Amino acid sequence: MSVIAFASDTGVWLLSTPRTSYALRIDATGAPCHLAWGPALTLEEVQEFVTEPAPPPSSFEGRPSVGDELPVDGGPRYGPPSLQVRFADGTRAFEWQATGHRVHEPAPGSAELVLDFRDRLHPLRVALHYRVHDDSDVIERWTVLRNDGDAPVALQRADSAAWTLPFREDYRLSHVTGQWSAETQLRRDVLPFGETVLTSRRGITSHHANPWVMLDAGDATEDHGQVWSAALAWSGSWRITVQRTPDGRAGFTAGAGHEGPYLPLGPGQEYTTPVHAGLYCEGGFGAASRAWHAYTLAHVLPHPQEIRPVLYNSWEATGFDVDEAGQKALAARAAALGVELYVMDDGWFGARRSEAAGLGDWVPAPDRFPGGLAPLAEEVHRLGMRFGLWVEPEMVSPDSDLYRKQPDWVLHFPHRTRTELRNQLVLNFARRDVAEWAYGWLTRLVGDHGIDFLKWDMNRAISEAGWPDRGEGADEVWTTYVHHLYDVVDRLRADHPHLRIEACSGGGGRVDLGILSRTDQAWPSDNTDAADRVAIQHGYGQIYPARTMAAWVTDVPNQLTGRSVPLRFRFHVAMAGVLGIGGDLSHWSDAELAEGAGLVAEYKRVRHLVQHGTQHRLRAPVDDGPAATQYVAADGSETLLLVWQRTSPHGRPSRPLRLAGLDPAARYREARTGTVYSATVLREYGMQPELPPGDWASAAVHLIRVP
Ligand code: GLA
Repeated sequence: MSVIAFASDTGVWLLSTPRTSYALRIDATGAPCHLAWGPALTLEEVQEFVTEPAPPPSSFEGRPSVGDELPVDGGPRYGPPSLQVRFADGTRAFEWQATGHRVHEPAPGSAELVLDFRDRLHPLRVALHYRVHDDSDVIERWTVLRNDGDAPVALQRADSAAWTLPFREDYRLSHVTGQWSAETQLRRDVLPFGETVLTSRRGITSHHANPWVMLDAGDATEDHGQVWSAALAWSGSWRITVQRTPDGRAGFTAGAGHEGPYLPLGPGQEYTTPVHAGLYCEGGFGAASRAWHAYTLAHVLPHPQEIRPVLYNSWEATGFDVDEAGQKALAARAAALGVELYVMDDGWFGARRSEAAGLGDWVPAPDRFPGGLAPLAEEVHRLGMRFGLWVEPEMVSPDSDLYRKQPDWVLHFPHRTRTELRNQLVLNFARRDVAEWAYGWLTRLVGDHGIDFLKWDMNRAISEAGWPDRGEGADEVWTTYVHHLYDVVDRLRADHPHLRIEACSGGGGRVDLGILSRTDQAWPSDNTDAADRVAIQHGYGQIYPARTMAAWVTDVPNQLTGRSVPLRFRFHVAMAGVLGIGGDLSHWSDAELAEGAGLVAEYKRVRHLVQHGTQHRLRAPVDDGPAATQYVAADGSETLLLVWQRTSPHGRPSRPLRLAGLDPAARYREARTGTVYSATVLREYGMQPELPPGDWASAAVHLIRVP
């Protein structure tokens, strides 16, 4: 049960989730300050540690930089501000004045607290929102700012929320870093004293960092220990500043945007920050990930109950060289393999023959699709599959009819270079006319051609983010761009309720809780090498569930890495998410097609466990030993174990895998061999999955409870 309680004598607010507590109060200065975030407490227990902040020990200290619910720039505060405003008279300081509070039930099973404030002098209103749910320990926080004055206010920083950890002797930070084709590499290091900034200044979530953190006291493991974590639901630039103060406290603040640009808030205007969701969890990193997965399914994804279909994507098979006959031939082979959704990737429109041209001209190329897309869409549907299409609506090629007609539609500064990356420029989606244009052609395309699925791509970082018509205040582009992107996607979905969307940005450049709340799955990386993918998927799954993680089986040698691994290993790695096929099926031998069809069928038998079960990472991909992950049905009736071993050094001790999440009293039969195991043996002594000898050995073990 989630509950919001208030002690009027001390002014303490206590938010209770099923297993955790979060407490705060407004202190004597009027500022909202943090009290507790951790295991469940009663209101009486929280009262025990309510104290007014001690006066600073010297004239150089000021207010502690960790401990406010939303540290402002104002007064003797010297930490990274979560809220930094500049009023028209040049004043920067913000002074808190509480004006009220509201508690309501936004939906059955949820409760929301809103704390209302304003600046003591200027009519700038700040509302802190907290939402809790009956079925999750995740607390959603965001801030709403409203300018009720006559003069504009510049929001130089407007974070969603700041979070404070209880005191511990040590702290450790987990997060992901990466780059294109090497996203979500998990890092876990001692939190240094000072400020650690994780950020994207690219206008997209980015391949280089992802907007979430996990913190622990240096003692948590995969299965044990306290973990505090938070994830930001935002698909543009962002910044998380994690602090470890000289006196040993830790906390972090997070929000949209990077330093430099500011958001103008005109008279009467309101700005709502993205949601920053926080989770305290016992049970180690594994339990934290499972709680995030459950939250994403219950409260983020639009169609969480669906089983995602097996898809085929043409990109690695054909590159830009797509045409009706070739696609029909691939579609026939894909259907025979058991594919349920056929996606034609880049190259079907305008003068798109390479990266050099065509983006913006979203009309089927007449030489390749003389009858438009209808004949292909009909054929794909006739073969019993859904039809999907690649689009990149936010982009334009300088060599396109659109750019020749609307050169001012791109982000640019007057008289400055328009930097091309991948030979393309970024359309200014913050402009209403540009967003309307995109919505218009997309809704017609989907409606006219019976399109069931879009792979929505975004293939470059933003640069020269100028909006010359806008003059002063053009920095709004960084936020309005993302709001309009969301708006176009939302309207498209509303127009076409059957439409499903994959979020992609050159692989995993736009994976976050914001885009996932309006799409159905994400493409984690352009790197489809199964060996590399194990680590990418390991990082992806720290927060995001397998149900959202598209994974293709492609050809060898891998186009990117040149590595060759067996088909079976490639399948077993891709089976850890939403299985797809991306190889050139016209070159698969009959034996490969038969093996592939068998593995697709096997995936269909277990995908409900992958996509809707709970995931236990049994062994991380950290050394030569097997990496393994397990998915358990909610009712414990079945489990799937996936095991991947790169090499098998001679003489290495055998490592049984201890299974998790099973009812100890139950017995399980392995579907393939019929062998029966008792759950206690599987949990305590483990199993040694049968792996073929040699490198790149893998296994999928499906166990079903014996009635
Ligand atoms: C991006 C995507 C790829 C593919 C290409 C097409 O790189 O991540 O999967 O769609 O664009 O140009």
